Amino acid sequence: MAEEQNYKTIAKPFVKWAGGKGSLIKQLIEFLPQNFDEQQNVTYIEPFVGGGAMLFYMLTHYSNIKRAIINDVNEDLINCYLLIKEDPTRLIVLLRSIKDEYYNLDTIEKKMQYYYRIRERYNNDELTIVERAAYFIFLNKTCFNGLYRVNTSGKFNVPFGKYERPNICDEELIMTDHKVLQKVDIYSGRYKTITKHLDKGYNFIYIDPPYRPLSGSACFIEYTHNIFDDAEQEKLKVFCDMLTQKGCKIMQSNSNSIDDDGVPYFAKLYNTYTINQILAHRFINAHAGKREKETELLIMNY
Ligand SMILES: C[S@@+](CC[C@H](N)C(=O)[O-])C[C@H]1O[C@@H](n2cnc3c(N)ncnc32)[C@H](O)[C@@H]1O
Repeated sequence: MAEEQNYKTIAKPFVKWAGGKGSLIKQLIEFLPQNFDEQQNVTYIEPFVGGGAMLFYMLTHYSNIKRAIINDVNEDLINCYLLIKEDPTRLIVLLRSIKDEYYNLDTIEKKMQYYYRIRERYNNDELTIVERAAYFIFLNKTCFNGLYRVNTSGKFNVPFGKYERPNICDEELIMTDHKVLQKVDIYSGRYKTITKHLDKGYNFIYIDPPYRPLSGSACFIEYTHNIFDDAEQEKLKVFCDMLTQKGCKIMQSNSNSIDDDGVPYFAKLYNTYTINQILAHRFINAHAGKREKETELLIMNY
């Protein structure tokens, strides 16, 4: 039942997102539960949705997914999903005018000043829902590497990315995402929020949390000012056990993290789960701009 839908533009993430799974999807779907595409009335769930690369892929390739549930702790990101689902036209109108203003600036210095003005407004002004979403998308497309990082006071602090003509307003993509989001229930909060929305039928949950650093002693990835440390990884394991008890199928991505004493962290934590390694391309040496292959893990309860 895996199908290509006949959209001119294929639904995919409307933002760049750190840890985005776009390049790994073909490997991920190899590990879906057996006979996944023969299940009826599947509910697809992503409690750490981010840019939603896997979500959009699944929604466009598996017509047996009758409903989806997504969640992320980043409220402004979730506000964009909600607006694209419910009122994409108002978002497009504002994004289009921001794009025109940006493109009409004739030097990169003027574009930079424009970027910092919007960042200032995003951080400090009372904004409407539409403004918040449009500024969030504009900043994502024009900031350095599409990063989302906030300081200790919760202010977005990523510098300008020096792009001349970034794709600030992809109208076709927003309208395509709008169509596929119609069967998605969208929530903002900690991942446990999804528990109360599970269905009685076949629940498939793809969990893509902030990764544990490769070695136990490295520093932690920070998406918001919420730090996902080892205590959080362990609570997430308890959550997975609870979902397993409820009969949900779970697939989790995480790093192939090895503790300083040489013990593979996730093999020990998830010792009753199935763990497979997949290949990921990462910038390991940022200065040399060198891409190297690294393995990461898929942890499954089936
Ligand atoms: C690895 S990223 C997910 C990337 C996503 N799969 C994609 O393709 O873009 C992890 C996400 O978890 C979110 N997050 C971090 N802590 C969270 C929490 N406690 N509950 C829910 N979401 C959280 C972050 O905002 C981030 O979007």
